[in-house]
Amino acid sequence: MIRTIHASQRLDSRGHPTVQVRLTTSAGVFASLVPSGASKGAYEAHELRDQNPHEFHGLGVLRAVNNVNDVIAPALIARNFDCSTDLARIDAFLDSLDGSADKSRLGANAILGVSMAAARAGAAELGVPLYEFLRRQAEAIRPYILPVPFFNVVNGGVHAGNTLPFQEFMIAPVAAQTMQVAVQWGAEVYMELKKVVKERYGGQATGVGDEGGFAPPVSEAHEVLELLATAVNNCGHTGKFEFAIDAAATEFYRPEEGVYDLGFKSGRPRIVSKESLRELYKDLITKYPIRLIEDPFAQDDWDSWAQFHEETKIEIVGDDLLATNIERIKVAVEKKACNALLLKLNQIGTVTEAMNAAKSSFDNGWSVFVSHRSGETTDDFIADLAVALRTGHLKAGAPCRGERVVKYNRLLDIEEELHSQGGLTMTHYAGAKYR
Ligand code: PGA
Ligand code: ZN
Repeated sequence: MIRTIHASQRLDSRGHPTVQVRLTTSAGVFASLVPSGASKGAYEAHELRDQNPHEFHGLGVLRAVNNVNDVIAPALIARNFDCSTDLARIDAFLDSLDGSADKSRLGANAILGVSMAAARAGAAELGVPLYEFLRRQAEAIRPYILPVPFFNVVNGGVHAGNTLPFQEFMIAPVAAQTMQVAVQWGAEVYMELKKVVKERYGGQATGVGDEGGFAPPVSEAHEVLELLATAVNNCGHTGKFEFAIDAAATEFYRPEEGVYDLGFKSGRPRIVSKESLRELYKDLITKYPIRLIEDPFAQDDWDSWAQFHEETKIEIVGDDLLATNIERIKVAVEKKACNALLLKLNQIGTVTEAMNAAKSSFDNGWSVFVSHRSGETTDDFIADLAVALRTGHLKAGAPCRGERVVKYNRLLDIEEELHSQGGLTMTHYAGAKYR
């Protein structure tokens, strides 16, 4: 039974306010911190911000905090739910207490904080790790699959001050045999990349973006992928990595004209048609080991998605397109727009709904890619979630910055724990077959 629920305003990795929840049961105190996006999609659940220009530039979350303390806490505690058995009921109750379609009344940030803390309490009450508790919730099988970490090592888009239009360039150590080796290789390439960036663009170019990747002064995807290939090869890891891109194309779409502006950050438009953008991606795929592209097109440009999906075999992941929302997934399946879900807890606002979105994706033959947000916290919940759902891959930024590495370090802890319990009968690293 839940004894107390208390929310407070804390900071995220951008220094923006966010919601912390502490939930108490007889098993202890269970905390959560809520993340926040920058390239947010229009179909995401609503993040409640105070809009008071005199505090935190309007970004305060005291209304969400108060909604937890004054509305959610008394109502939820009065229901006498048992976190060990009732997570789905708790999440449904939170959703109905809000009553809006997008959780805008109480705030998805308020609701998610409670949902995550309740899941942690449930695990503790059963005396099992969070990944095992979530696995049972999802009715997933074992052995556990440790996800391939997709390290975002070059940042662009709205996550960095350079003129690179695409938001994320990721490296995935698919040839590793264990999580430990995967993280080591990723960190080695990241360190090497710093040297390569410094040699080409000078020391000032080695600062990092919101997700810990370098943000060199480049505008072209080709140039970035060359940097990645060089760093991988210099480390002696040739052939062991695959690359991935999150274009986050909603940010540079001009819906009135039906075109994309690759110069959107430079102040000098570089307009490309939908066809040219598709051709650009196809060209990159033939030249580099790119196995995954996320948000290649804008959230409402369904035709471009469907056409690209038909023309390529790689994994095409819907982030803004799907917003971790079952209704959007249904439409995307019908339109054959993509073949994978990007799963972000705060896009939908409860753990249960996010897991249902994953289930619906798997049922349709898609893959699921678990994701952090650009505004992150030291909460490592998504590491356990990726293991529980056997998603085979996860992105949590660069192997750099505390709020990113906390997820990778948690995965290393899980691997160590499972190996000590029974090695390969308990777990394996997803590797090249991560889909
Ligand atoms: P966001 O970026 O958290 O700023 O939305 C992450 C992503 O687009 O995948
Ligand atoms: Zn994205």
